[in-house]
This record gives sequence, C-alpha cells and structure tokens, in this order.
Amino acid sequence: MARHFLRDDDLSPAEQAEVLALAAELKAAPYSKRPLDGPEAVAVIFDKSSTRTRVSFSVGIAELGGYPLVIDAATSQLGRGEPIADTARVLDRQCSAIVWRTFGQTRIEQMAQASAVPVVNALTDEFHPCQILADLQTVNERFGSAAGRTLAYLGDASNNMAHSYLLGGATAGMHVRVAGPQEFQPDAAVVADAQAIAETTGGSVMVTTDAGAAATGADVLATDTWVSMGQESEAADREAPFVPYQVNESLLSTASAEAIVLHCLPAYRGKEISEGVLDGPQSAIWDEAENRRHAQKALLVWLLERR
Ligand code: CP
Ligand code: NVA
Repeated sequence: MARHFLRDDDLSPAEQAEVLALAAELKAAPYSKRPLDGPEAVAVIFDKSSTRTRVSFSVGIAELGGYPLVIDAATSQLGRGEPIADTARVLDRQCSAIVWRTFGQTRIEQMAQASAVPVVNALTDEFHPCQILADLQTVNERFGSAAGRTLAYLGDASNNMAHSYLLGGATAGMHVRVAGPQEFQPDAAVVADAQAIAETTGGSVMVTTDAGAAATGADVLATDTWVSMGQESEAADREAPFVPYQVNESLLSTASAEAIVLHCLPAYRGKEISEGVLDGPQSAIWDEAENRRHAQKALLVWLLERR
C-alpha cells in the first residue's frame, strides 16, 4: 500500500521531522537524491490556478531525475467528468506519483483510495499541507527549530491554510494561534484533531476572534488571501469582516522583536497584508516560496522510499 499525503497529519511528528531534515539536505545539495532517474513520470494535475505549486513541483521533480507531467484538468477527461478512480487506475500504471490540486477533500481521498502510487495534496478547499512543510522549513531555518515557537495565523480562519497551520503546526510542536471573524472560524473537527496532536508534541492550539491576542509575542505572523480560489463571487462580503486581522506594521509591533512574517502567496497588498510588511525586513515570504521546492522534493523522496 502506497503512503499518501492528503492532510498535514498524514505524517506523524517523527515522520514530519524526517521530511523536514531531508528538505534541508536537499536545499544544500539539490541533485543528491535521484529516485526518479529513468526518468519516471509524476502527474501534477491542476483543477485550479497555480504559479508556485506548478513551478516548484515541475523543477523539483526534474531535479529528482523525473519527468513532471503537468496536466490542466480542464483539458483532460477528468475535467469532463471521468470518474476519479478510473483516472487513478490509468495514471498509476504510468506515473510514480500523483500530485493534485482540486476542490473538495473527498475528491483527493477517492484518488488515493484507487491509486497504487503515492497521492499528494497540492491544495484542496480544506488543506494545503505542502505549503505548511515549506513554512515549517522556513521557521526551522530562522529559529533553529519550530518546536516551542508560536505561530499566529490571522484572517480567514476557515480556509485551507488555517486548517493546515493547525494540523501541521501542532505536529511540529508549535503553539498555533488562529484568529479570524466569528463567521470564518476553523472546522471544529480539525481544531480537535490539532489539539489532540498538540498534547503529544508539547504544542498548543488557540482559536480566537481577537487579532491582538493571537499576535502578541508571536514568533511568526502568517496570513493568506481573504478570497480563496472558488470564492470569487463572495469577494464583496469577504473584506469588511477581515480588516481588523490585516498583518500590518501596527500588529507586527506587538509580536516578538525577532518575529518573521509568512504568506503562502499570492498576496493582495493592502488587504490581508500591508505593502510595508510584505516587503519589509521581517518578511520571510520569498524564502518560504522557494522552500516549496525543497520541502516537496523531500516529501516525494520520502514517499517513494516507501513504495
Ligand atoms: N502558495 C501557492 O500554493 O501558490 P500557487 O497558488 O501559485 O501554487
Ligand atoms: N487559501 C488560498 C491559498 C492559495 C495558495 C486559496 O485556496 O486560494
């Protein structure tokens, strides 16, 4: 049975630490692991737009000796309604892994259930676990270790990034604080899962509507767009409630003096983050974007070692 990475807690704390250690190794020596030499193909499928995920997986797979087969779902039969399980059965005979950005989490669960090769979540409506691996790599680089550090995520607390910070941050032993408006709070089941993980790792979980309470003293401030992909028709209603959660100079001044700022990108300057903070000295956002490649390569190596 192949191992899959569909949500952040598909890696145990020890396994996540192994992947992140490997990510650091691969950043220092990008061509040191060649599990896809052949080259073997990896399908990278997009039901939604992407810049970073597309580029980082494509370049990363090539650096692992493989061939990235980037598929726009809209021009594939998957986009015309071919069953997910049938797609999995065709792909897994020709590709060594399947990376997929899609809508509902149940879609990627169906793909994994039918696939003999590892399936990797490249973002769903519910989770963005590859992004959190890159974020944790960035935190490790800046602070030595993420464990015991406090990460405050502010903004749309009901979205994929919020859920992945909860699970992935707790897995890393972080103190995760998530702040957003009352009507945009995280899924209660995800919060409960994160709390259970935090109890085993020495981390903790706080969910609040109070931006100040979340940001005060934090080592990492993180945010994300207020309008995720697929929510464009709600854009007008997704501004006013979020304004108090903007990551700006005033909020950053309440965080730890050495705090860093993360944003998965794309960023909307003047909305969820001020221009000055995005481009300022405490921003680790461009390292974070680069680390997508290293973290995902490590994940693929780790998953392929278990096939
Ligand atoms: N952060 C992220 O996943 O970016 P893309 O949507 O450009 O892939
Ligand atoms: N929450 C955002 C993340 C983009 C990388 C979205 O789903 O659109």
